[in-house]
Amino acid sequence: MPIVPTIRAIRPDERGELDRVIVRSLGSPYVVSRRLIHRVSELPCLVATSGDRWLGLAAYRLAAGACELVLLEAFERGRGTGTALLDAVVELARESGARRLWLVTTNDNVDALRFYQRRGMRLVRLWSDAVTQSRKLLKPEIPLAGDNGIAIRDELELDMLLTEVSASG
Ligand SMILES: CC(C)(COP(=O)(O)OP(=O)(O)OC[C@H]1O[C@@H](n2cnc3c(N)ncnc32)[C@H](O)[C@@H]1OP(=O)(O)O)[C@@H](O)C(=O)NCCC(=O)NCCS
Repeated sequence: MPIVPTIRAIRPDERGELDRVIVRSLGSPYVVSRRLIHRVSELPCLVATSGDRWLGLAAYRLAAGACELVLLEAFERGRGTGTALLDAVVELARESGARRLWLVTTNDNVDALRFYQRRGMRLVRLWSDAVTQSRKLLKPEIPLAGDNGIAIRDELELDMLLTEVSASG
């Protein structure tokens, strides 16, 4: 059943818990994108909550007139949490003056490719073997196979021009 989460910024005193949640979910506190390694708990981060429960997280990075969505995770899928977090990131990116929202996902993540494209994002680049390189040089714990048993090799970049559309169309 859909839920209407509250979306708010992570508080400084929650950063330790954030690290633990990310390690539980990803096996490491780090995510890699475009050859950069980020500790999620050191990035600006939104949390979706219902009462005391954390329903999902979005971590982002503002740089060079753009906003990178570094991590988006819903702990219970298909209930509207991911959409609510994406909408909130679009809004704050716009308010911060960013002209573009972008992210990378991996080639196995067909659910995410569907999710983002249905919410106005376009596929703009294929970074072939980017994950293979990141696994070798930055984060050996990246699994070899991902969703649907697909070998994880490439980064796919998606973006949305913030001057044109909003996440919910
Ligand atoms: C991608 C992701 C953030 C979406 O979050 P979500 O809370 O499931 O998203 P929503 O509930 O707002 O919408 C999900 C869509 O999938 C559908 N859905 C239904 N059941 C679902 C399920 N079990 N899993 C995923 N999506 C489901 C929803 O109906 C909705 O479809 P629509 O596009 O037709 O509207 C979430 O699936 C996730 O955390 N995935 C793992 C981490 C990840 O891949 N992050 C993105 C990589 S950069």
